[in-house]
Amino acid sequence: MKDLIEKLKQDFTNRLDKANSASDLETLRVDFFGRKGKLNQIFKQLTRLSVEEKQKWGPYLNQLKARWQKALANKHQKLTQTAPVADFNFPAFPVPTFGRLHPIEWMRQKTLEIFTPLGFIEVDGPHIENDWYNFEGLNIPPGHPARDLWDTLYVDLKDDKNSPLLLRTHTSNIQLRALQKYKPPLKVMSFGRCFRHEVLDPRHSHTFSQFEVLVVDKNINMSHLKWLSDYFLKQILGEVTQSRFRPKYYPFVEPGVGVDAKCVFCAGQGCSVCSNSGWFEIAGAGMVHPQVLTNAGLDPDEYSGFAWGFGPDRMLMLMTGVDDIRQLYQGNLNFLKG
Ligand code: PHE
Repeated sequence: MKDLIEKLKQDFTNRLDKANSASDLETLRVDFFGRKGKLNQIFKQLTRLSVEEKQKWGPYLNQLKARWQKALANKHQKLTQTAPVADFNFPAFPVPTFGRLHPIEWMRQKTLEIFTPLGFIEVDGPHIENDWYNFEGLNIPPGHPARDLWDTLYVDLKDDKNSPLLLRTHTSNIQLRALQKYKPPLKVMSFGRCFRHEVLDPRHSHTFSQFEVLVVDKNINMSHLKWLSDYFLKQILGEVTQSRFRPKYYPFVEPGVGVDAKCVFCAGQGCSVCSNSGWFEIAGAGMVHPQVLTNAGLDPDEYSGFAWGFGPDRMLMLMTGVDDIRQLYQGNLNFLKG
């Protein structure tokens, strides 16, 4: 009996080791535990033994049976185990974003969205500009004290007409360029980088953005300018705002105005954002100076127009709470992702 069982044990262990599919295991199970299986055959043989022998081998075989059944079940589980099923209730990991618009580009698109339906087309001007388009043609001749309003960065080169080259100090260079190129009636807008020799602080950067519109046609007057200015500020800051004009000097417009928007944080009551004045200076504007029209080859008795320009960086800071203009020009990914 002992030998028989010993052989059976070896047989079972071998076949269990070799089994590598659920069907191998099933064959093994039937061979050993089936009605005509090897274990039952041994149990049958047990009936022929003495009572003593029965008492010795009976419980032993039962234990063996239980142990093998367990081994079979374990191996079955191992072989049929598949990848864990996805847990759809598990909290999702944050999905990395694949980039987004730079805040300035976001502001540009928002601004163009407001002006495009009004019929403005976008034009561009060079960043490195000659003195004539940036200053002289805009009624700011060399030596004119108004040049001090723009802390200019000059390039150590001249253009082919011997005019000094500089980094444009404003987008107003597009005024003359657009007038020469398109002729009135004209409604153009331009959004772009400008450069000044600033003392850097959270509100001043050597590189900054301006947006400017120019409208020139017959019979354009100040009320057109007022309407457009108001319209834009309400679109961008909401209906709660109001705009006001203050007289302001720019050599290329006459009359010139500073455009203020009523503070949207305190409804004009005065707060820390607006330095207690109730208003922000948002834009510079005015009726195009007759000399500028003449410089562009137009007859100021026939045509009139207005120009209006604002600082998108400041507007962006107001709208988003960014508190340092330099962040907008540093390409710092931590800031841009935030
Ligand atoms: N170019 C002016 C500046 O740089 C702003 C301005 C634009 C003023 C258009 C009047 C008209 O500050």
